[in-house]
Amino acid sequence: MRLYLIGAGVIARTHAEAAAKLGEEVELRVADPNPTVLQGFLAAFPQATGFGNADAMLTAEDPEPDDIVVVATPPVFHAGPAIAAARSGRHVLCEKPLAMTVDEAEEMLAAATEAHVLFGSCSTRFRGLPHNEAVKGVLASGVLGDLIHLDFVTKWPRSRAGIEYQPASRWFLDSRASGGGVVMDWGPYDFSTLFDLLQPTRVEIVDAWLGQIRTAADPVDVVHDTESTAGASLRIARADGVLRVNYERANGTHAEEFARAELEGTRGALRWTPFDSQAPVYLTTDRDGELKEEVVTPPERSDLTIFDRPLVHFHAAMRGRPSLASVGAAAVDEFRCVRGIYDAARTGEPTVVEVRR
Ligand SMILES: NC(=O)c1ccc[n+]([C@@H]2O[C@H](COP(=O)([O-])OP(=O)(O)OC[C@H]3O[C@@H](n4cnc5c(N)ncnc54)[C@H](O)[C@@H]3O)[C@@H](O)[C@H]2O)c1
Repeated sequence: MRLYLIGAGVIARTHAEAAAKLGEEVELRVADPNPTVLQGFLAAFPQATGFGNADAMLTAEDPEPDDIVVVATPPVFHAGPAIAAARSGRHVLCEKPLAMTVDEAEEMLAAATEAHVLFGSCSTRFRGLPHNEAVKGVLASGVLGDLIHLDFVTKWPRSRAGIEYQPASRWFLDSRASGGGVVMDWGPYDFSTLFDLLQPTRVEIVDAWLGQIRTAADPVDVVHDTESTAGASLRIARADGVLRVNYERANGTHAEEFARAELEGTRGALRWTPFDSQAPVYLTTDRDGELKEEVVTPPERSDLTIFDRPLVHFHAAMRGRPSLASVGAAAVDEFRCVRGIYDAARTGEPTVVEVRR
């Protein structure tokens, strides 16, 4: 099969590495208008064919039914290339966040539907990790009873993309290129994980807030209008009832570093660290009126990294195998939740996402 990368930056290299783990021969093509970035990529992956722009790459040969295009550009350049890739007759896997706006994401989905190709999101990096599978196993067992409340919190004091993380990519700080800050950067993973764990039928963002901290490391020579800390009160409807969720996310905060998910039910509670698959998952239940805590045994760890997973999941879906890919309307619905946080924060009104199946 052939893998086409639009953008040859930091994340494109991880997709090129993931291609080696698909279990079949992959021909690599890559396009980037920045000659320095493109040459750097081709030096690292000399087997790839390089192009100065995506159109030249997509029109250089006729499509094959199993071609995959990965859109690995900054968010403001997701929609155009993704729509062109779909119209070229190739499956499209788009980096997160899917787009700048919900309208753009719907247009991308419509283009893929019309062209009869798959459209997927790279928001699935953390799906399939042992701790998430352990949580799913406990949920399926019913041992928690009726679900009451979920705390889903990940706050890192100094991890802002474009400042402490990947400082060369200043575009992360400018909402005209990134669409937003930590919610656009990490929210796609949060909602993709929550969709996988909880299988929602409807998500209501009841209230939300956004904030930006000030530090001595803040650049003064670029636009920096993105939030570094955010939170929301959610109501997640599932087949068996409505779960109240406290969601918080920060990559820049003066508050304490804190990462914890805690799911309370009528008969038990589960506690884990959302993005740390090495940390244990704890199950607490009642035994003879006392609290009993045990560590849930996770399934075996695979050799896939988080960076391999989006392409591996999507490739499996393309081949018609069971997969943890987020494709079609489900991918867009996750993204609607991400944008819904901004809408609820701006308007003070709830935002509702009906999840399509
Ligand atoms: N860096 C990470 O750790 C990381 C992790 C997960 C997801 N992502 C996502 O991947 C995407 C890209 O991020 P990155 O970190 O690789 O950025 P980057 O700045 O390293 O690279 C982006 C590249 O896209 C190129 N580009 C811009 N417009 C283009 C176009 N129209 N056609 C072809 N190439 C074009 C740029 O020249 C640049 O080389 C973003 O959506 C980001 O959120 C990044």
